Amino acid sequence: MGTPIYYGSISSYAQAFLERLLFAADTYLIDDDGNRMSKIKNEVKTAMIYTMNVPKEMDYFNGEDQLAIMRGYLTNIFGECESLYAYDTKQFRHYSAYVNNMFDAEHKEESEKTQFPKDLQKAYELGQRISESDD
Ligand SMILES: Cc1cc2nc3c(=O)[nH]c(=O)nc-3n(C[C@H](O)[C@H](O)[C@H](O)COP(=O)(O)O)c2cc1C
Repeated sequence: MGTPIYYGSISSYAQAFLERLLFAADTYLIDDDGNRMSKIKNEVKTAMIYTMNVPKEMDYFNGEDQLAIMRGYLTNIFGECESLYAYDTKQFRHYSAYVNNMFDAEHKEESEKTQFPKDLQKAYELGQRISESDD
């Protein structure tokens, strides 16, 4: 599942979708070891793909506090959940149309041409990898 980062977290749309998805598969049962039981019998591998304005150097999600909560639930209910971060994305199609002195328009154009295709490729490969059958 892909989501932009809005104010340091996943978008409200992604949050709403995950709440209903997780709740449909969740139970209020615990097993003999005290672990919460899921309705999902076989592991379903999932992944969260995050896109954001900030460059990688800002290492915004060091420790993953904000994002770890939903990924934790995805892991418990569905199985392993990978993450992929696409940094330094282009927020505005035309930077000149906005009042902005935070982002360098030329750098953003360059990042869109050079980095974003690599991130898309990584996302594609990630999707391929987790959808491959284990047997
Ligand atoms: C309401 C709003 C809040 C945002 N907050 C952040 C943020 O906290 N950190 C960040 O790196 N980018 C932030 N962005 C930029 C988006 O994450 C970035 O544009 C994203 O890669 C693409 O989102 P879009 O498809 O909505 O344009 C924000 C964008 C919007 C519209």
